[in-house]
Amino acid sequence: MSNSPTKIQLIQPDDWHLHIRDGEVMKDVLADTARQFARAIIMPNLKPPVTTVDLAKAYQERIQANLNALGVTSFTPLMTLYLTDNTSVDEVHKAKAAGIVGFKLYPAGATTNSDAGVSDLKHCHAALEAMQAVGMPLLVHGEVTHADIDIFDREAVFIDAVLEPLRKKLPELKIVFEHITTKQAAHYVRDAVTGGKNTIAATITPQHLLMNRNAIFAGGIRPHNYCLPVLKREEHRVALLEAATSGNSRFFLGTDSAPHAKGAKEAACGCAGCYSAFNALGLYAEAFESVGKLDKLEGFASFFGSDFYTLPRNSKTVTLVKQPQSIPAQLPLGDTTIVPLRAGETIAWSLV
Ligand code: DOR
Ligand code: ZN
Repeated sequence: MSNSPTKIQLIQPDDWHLHIRDGEVMKDVLADTARQFARAIIMPNLKPPVTTVDLAKAYQERIQANLNALGVTSFTPLMTLYLTDNTSVDEVHKAKAAGIVGFKLYPAGATTNSDAGVSDLKHCHAALEAMQAVGMPLLVHGEVTHADIDIFDREAVFIDAVLEPLRKKLPELKIVFEHITTKQAAHYVRDAVTGGKNTIAATITPQHLLMNRNAIFAGGIRPHNYCLPVLKREEHRVALLEAATSGNSRFFLGTDSAPHAKGAKEAACGCAGCYSAFNALGLYAEAFESVGKLDKLEGFASFFGSDFYTLPRNSKTVTLVKQPQSIPAQLPLGDTTIVPLRAGETIAWSLV
């Protein structure tokens, strides 16, 4: 492929990190994702969180009912469980048998609906050991949450304080370092020694490839560019873009699209989360094109995630064209509205 094409065809991508919520809003956000992706890993941070196989099955049924109502037959939700201090070995085995694709580690208090998260990984040792034994991936929100750690340092500190000790203790546990935001994380994942095994990978969001922290403060506070982990300095964005476009199979697509109603974002204490699902593929294409690496998009978006999760690659193809698409100022979200990432602007690439 030339690196300045106006049309690209790729095997249909999957979104390896997605929030679709529940109830009324789910249908609207599912429609955006299912237009682009064949599968998505559904995050379990509902209120209350999805901590058991039974809760995940019930959630999956609600998702399926919404897909049916939308007339969507070509999208598969991949379910996860929320790891807690009390997750049992038995639940890990049940999850494996039920086709759950991973457990999500939210350090307590790290982000939206994470109060029930893990207070100390030592409480989870037996569950983590069982996950290692059955090949169940651990998906980590990689930030320490101590109030005395600067918010811009939380991910880098997590690597030394939590991730590296965990990998030393359980070297064969499969770990996805979710939505990485720093040079330290990109280099840690790139350089991790795994003895040839697929034990570590990272997802990268479109906003962290396209924006640095200035975007939160451009001419005034920009709540729709606020997510967690928060956007970092330009040098970090550059390192993430370099990792995503390197062709290294340890890095793959995960939008972390996280819908919050307009009013919950534009508030005195606004929620964290960017809604990128509306044209996520266009955003990724723009990022890859910016460094002349469109030829590396298919691996990142369509192959490396399924390979890591040992799921079959998709076979259908999708086509992106370089045809500017305006992003609406807002979109319907249940009985309210949501402001998508890049609202009111145009994105150069769109899905045919
Ligand atoms: O910005 C974020 N929003 N980061 C997360 O980790 C969670 C997510 C959400 O659920 O809103
Ligand atoms: Zn997330």
